[in-house]
Amino acid sequence: MMMNAGLEGITAAETVLSDVDGEAGQLVLRGWTLEQLVGCVRFEAVLDLLLEGLLPPRAGKTVGQVLGCAREEVYRGLPQLDASLLALAPIEGLRVLLARLPDGDDFDTAARLIAAPAVLTAALLRRQAGEAAVAPDASLGHAADFLRMLRGEAPPGRDAIALDQYLVTVADHGLNASTFAARVVASTRAGLTSATVAALSALKGPLHGGAPGPVLDMLDAIGSAEQAPGWVERAVRQGERLMGFGHRVYRVRDPRADALKSALQQLTRAGGQPSERLMLAYAVERAALEVLRREKPGRRLDTNVEFYTALLLEALEVPRRAFTCVFAIGRIAGWIAHAREQIKTGRLIRPSSRYVGPRPPQRPQVAGA
Ligand code: ACO
Repeated sequence: MMMNAGLEGITAAETVLSDVDGEAGQLVLRGWTLEQLVGCVRFEAVLDLLLEGLLPPRAGKTVGQVLGCAREEVYRGLPQLDASLLALAPIEGLRVLLARLPDGDDFDTAARLIAAPAVLTAALLRRQAGEAAVAPDASLGHAADFLRMLRGEAPPGRDAIALDQYLVTVADHGLNASTFAARVVASTRAGLTSATVAALSALKGPLHGGAPGPVLDMLDAIGSAEQAPGWVERAVRQGERLMGFGHRVYRVRDPRADALKSALQQLTRAGGQPSERLMLAYAVERAALEVLRREKPGRRLDTNVEFYTALLLEALEVPRRAFTCVFAIGRIAGWIAHAREQIKTGRLIRPSSRYVGPRPPQRPQVAGA
């Protein structure tokens, strides 16, 4: 039996939700390319697109209204955030709080889960900073309301637009590790909350959604554009992985990197000049691509979504320790859509393993038997 430890090239689901073409560098969400969506439609519209036909009908409300009401419901049910919870990293706190939501696979559970990461992340971060949590405003878009709950005041329109573009960009991406985890759990009929907690746990790893914080750590360690080539070369020669580069599926540039780079440029351009931080990022990206091409000639490694995610979220004043939580605010759309799609198939996911351990001893032959 063929064995493939990373499951690359193995098709484990049929989906109408998204298609990642790693050779062409194209991401399609239910018939629309990423470029046709980012900057043209809001996160709420992408949610509608992804979940169409996968949830029971909602009684005449727009997705924005459903999401706004669900944010209020999650906030009303917010438990006491005690010292032990506030001592956790935000992504761990988010996992604990998500796990406390009721489980099920109905419409209300789905809406609550999609709303939850925004409300819970903002509340956790504010309480960790010694400030009171801010109640949601159901009339706002999801991105604008998250920034408002986080900052305690309405964000400028350009910040809300940039975050909305980010949420659209990361809403879904084929059978990535966290989405696969969600589908496996959903296939056991454990419920959407359980599927989401599993997905979040997979997302936080540095090889998946945990990379953007370390991207900024890398930029800080490099310090200046002149240091970039030497620093990057040393790191790759020592066998380190450059955070924000490489991808299991893309053999060309990750299209999400370009979507976010352009969102960032719109957000940070002051008087037509890129900021100093952005100039450093460009220098590090150039150096990384050059060194990776030279040092890893057998493997095309390019910029992935996490590199410009880090810079965009930093520009939006999201604390870097919470970057993965903000990833979850967007990606939960995909998790829920995939989990619902998996439930509809009715099929339990249960692959095989090849046993390579010791074999039981042969039964001794009994003489004369
Ligand atoms: N920096 C340096 N070398 C790298 C990198 C990198 N970022 N990525 C892969 N390589 C090297 C590997 O060390 C390996 O080298 P070797 O053949 O000399 O041993 C070679 O490229 C092939 O690597 P694989 O392990 O086969 O690549 P894989 O498909 O498993 O990795 C991954 C994909 C995990 C994303 C990897 O590129 C990586 O670790 N990147 C850095 C972390 C990161 O940015 N994660 C976010 C990914 S995007 C997302 O999930 C949302």
